[in-house]
Amino acid sequence: MPIFQSTMYEVEPGTGYHDTRYIRLNNTPNHLALHQKMASLENAEDALVTASGMAAISSALMTILSAGDHLLAQECLYGGTHNLITQDLPAWGIQFDFIDANDPDQWQRLVRPNTKAIYMETMTNPLLEVADHEAVIRFARDRGIVSMVDNTIPCPVNFRPPEWGYDLSLHSGTKYLNGHSDLVAGALIGRADLVRKIRHRVNHLGGCLDPHTAFLLHRGIKTVGVRVRHQNASALRIARFLQDHPAVSKINFPGLESHPQHARAQRLFEGYAGLLSLELVGGLEAAKRLIEKLRIPIEAPSLGGVETLVTRPSTTSHAGMAPEDRKRLGITDSLVRVSVGIEDTEDLLEDIGQALESL
Ligand SMILES: Cc1ncc(COP(=O)(O)O)c(C=O)c1O
Repeated sequence: MPIFQSTMYEVEPGTGYHDTRYIRLNNTPNHLALHQKMASLENAEDALVTASGMAAISSALMTILSAGDHLLAQECLYGGTHNLITQDLPAWGIQFDFIDANDPDQWQRLVRPNTKAIYMETMTNPLLEVADHEAVIRFARDRGIVSMVDNTIPCPVNFRPPEWGYDLSLHSGTKYLNGHSDLVAGALIGRADLVRKIRHRVNHLGGCLDPHTAFLLHRGIKTVGVRVRHQNASALRIARFLQDHPAVSKINFPGLESHPQHARAQRLFEGYAGLLSLELVGGLEAAKRLIEKLRIPIEAPSLGGVETLVTRPSTTSHAGMAPEDRKRLGITDSLVRVSVGIEDTEDLLEDIGQALESL
């Protein structure tokens, strides 16, 4: 797919205002090609790409919810989404309740006549919890509310929410979809009627993707299957190694039999992605030292790229969350998150081993 780096297009004879092609209207050749690609990746009716993952999430919520509406949202979400829900939605007159992803009886108690949507993440960041997605989809269908899920972490290689009945799947294309940590993009995939409404809202809000970035994202997606399957396998081996290591006190990875929702993850996903988090016996000091001693992983936030990244979420992705919220959710200061890249697994195991030995 070439880059069509043109703001607008010549008006063809016999066409009207609504046929105008303009980058902000999300309808140039690079947009259209990506929309088709994204929809087919998850076997969905339609898709839209946006300027960032947060543009996809905020535009979707701002379209589905209006002043006076209510949202049910999973309790432990990506920090940016958590802040949008807790800080911005109330300012726009939208109420919310956080829900326990594994307690449908509680959702039943919290749902209101003005509840319009239920918002989840396929696997939570950074604790890798797997919600009861089948119950969420049934719950939303029974009440005629919109089911939305952030599918950034498993990405379409491992899970395709529309195939299971989710109305909307949201993505930070910045992560696994692009895979090279060199752009910011977002996508929403799902029901054609919802995507159409959100596209109109994005046209007004202006959160469009530039054609050059669309081209790069399109190119990144060409290798997503190969990259993510390698990351799935590598992360599973690393998680098993960490689980057996005496310096590690806790490991969060849904591919491990010890994970509380492993059976569910096995049923829903084709792989468990490349993200894991851990706690060390030595606590915060050991966590800092581990990060210092690692030679291959780079200390940086973000995830899903070809390089292995390591971070303490309390200081990066979840720094904006109130300390008492982080504590309640289990995002401790000593939690270390690893986004496994595509380096040789043996090299990573050897490097992690030497760093743990030095603690
Ligand atoms: C799960 C998840 N959703 C959404 C986002 C936001 O994406 P972006 O940074 O592309 O706006 C992130 C970013 O880290 C994320 O991890």
